[in-house]
Amino acid sequence: MGFQEEINKRRTFGIISHPDAGKTTLTEKLLLFGGAIQEAGAVKSHKIKKAATSDFMEIERQRGISVSTSVLAFNYKEKKINILDTPGHKDFAEDTFRTLTAVDSVIVVIDVAKGVEEQTEKLVEVCRMREIPIIVFINKLDREGKDAFDLLDELEQKLKFKVCPLSFPIGMGYDFQGIYNIWEKNLMLFNADNKQKISKTIYINGLNDPKLIDHIGETASDNLKEEIEIIEEVYPNFNKDQYLSCKQQPVFFGSALNNFGVKELLDCFISIAPSPTKKESTLRIISPNESKFTGFIFKIHANMDPKHRDRLAFIKIVSGKFKRNMTYHHVRLNKKFKFSSPNAFFAEKKEIVNESYPGDIVGVHDSGNFKIGDAFSEGEDVFFKGIPNFSPEHFRYINNLDPMKSKQLAKGIVQLMDEGVAQLFILELNGRKVIGTVGALQFEVIQYRLEHEYGAKCSYENLNIHKACWVENQEGTKAEFNEFKKLKSKFLAKDKDGKLVFLSDSSFSLEMTKEKFPSINFHYKSEF
Ligand code: G4P
Repeated sequence: MGFQEEINKRRTFGIISHPDAGKTTLTEKLLLFGGAIQEAGAVKSHKIKKAATSDFMEIERQRGISVSTSVLAFNYKEKKINILDTPGHKDFAEDTFRTLTAVDSVIVVIDVAKGVEEQTEKLVEVCRMREIPIIVFINKLDREGKDAFDLLDELEQKLKFKVCPLSFPIGMGYDFQGIYNIWEKNLMLFNADNKQKISKTIYINGLNDPKLIDHIGETASDNLKEEIEIIEEVYPNFNKDQYLSCKQQPVFFGSALNNFGVKELLDCFISIAPSPTKKESTLRIISPNESKFTGFIFKIHANMDPKHRDRLAFIKIVSGKFKRNMTYHHVRLNKKFKFSSPNAFFAEKKEIVNESYPGDIVGVHDSGNFKIGDAFSEGEDVFFKGIPNFSPEHFRYINNLDPMKSKQLAKGIVQLMDEGVAQLFILELNGRKVIGTVGALQFEVIQYRLEHEYGAKCSYENLNIHKACWVENQEGTKAEFNEFKKLKSKFLAKDKDGKLVFLSDSSFSLEMTKEKFPSINFHYKSEF
């Protein structure tokens, strides 16, 4: 197979949802279709069991299993599908944001009863920033839920989507009879006695086919015709270019648990979802079919064994072929690296690969050199855009509890930050270290890992910070900038890359500061 064909057959995507909407169940059903797993429950058993343990142990467990579910690759109808796993826990939202830098498209799962939830809104916002094409799957149709049209309205209002339904439910919950597939103009019926099974897919020749009444009855048939008429009048026809440019979002209905509507979703997905796309770098826009290899690290996974501090760095290949035992240029460190055992991932197992293509993810051994966002190339000094840090939500001073172990503590903090567990800020005034996290849980994780992996003990001290803002000073305002730095010296820090950050203690003080220093820009993310 030629290089271009290898690129064209790849579909690298992520499934995102608010916890419990059915992301894990859907992932599992997709893997079953691809023959990547043999039985239901294989992925699910990895999921954190909610009631069994404390939150913290759940996180540790999730970390332990997440190497095997980080990338779930399988072949389906001559396409190579790479699903990148996104953590469901909200305290790990930033991990998900970063994974979204490595996907070419996204499927959003919505619970039919709950509609658009908070976490969905946040994740979709990130997809919008990154211009990632989105398909929606409305799940749990076997249960009573919101009216299908109300849900479509909700998607438009809350997520600012321009929806285009490609399937539509016939009834819902108790009355759920099946799905009309607008995309392929056929009908799929639920078995009346047993909702766990699809009785059969019935091909009907449009909505006026007399077979329709035979199968779903006159009332349901009339309702469906009316609803499809409304859809045709109100919603735009599917347009692939609009979908690819994020101006339209196709919507499917189904039930992941009952394996209903999933195959339709997958079949449509492989035909419309984008193959690996171009990526913006600091030098130029890089196309996947360029002959030279480029790629970037979007995830670093620490080994669970505290005795071996080896880590696995996940590289998304942007262009060219990645080859085993080739020497590649690490741009930030300006150093050459050769990978003798790069891993490719298949559901539940990893294998050493000799060659990988754009869209693929390879896992490479890292002995503590790499950071999230690092780029590799065949010599060019490229940096990829779009891997920013966001302002954390929680901030605490971190203190060393054992003066004999200060080196270990410093090293542990740096490595955990490189992994993206949290963010470190160093105060300009006194050099004190402040840890910023998305969820309060990460403080426990950091403390535990510092002790168990680095032998260092730490304590925390509360710090009242509202938001971290990256400061951008425009040209010609040096006096104003100096004045700002003098006045706010207590609140200024440097992030891991040495960028200046203003740690404001309240939204009021942030607003006042913005007013007082109008030519200084304050950003909630590190890339602007
Ligand atoms: P998540 O990864 O998005 O957090 O969701 P997950 O797939 O774990 O699904 C959350 C719950 O919703 C699970 O039930 C799952 O079985 C259920 N579910 C998923 N899809 C459907 C569906 O189409 N219909 C119905 N009725 N339920 C669905 P649970 O009781 O929390 O877990 P479990 O005991 O079933 O594993």
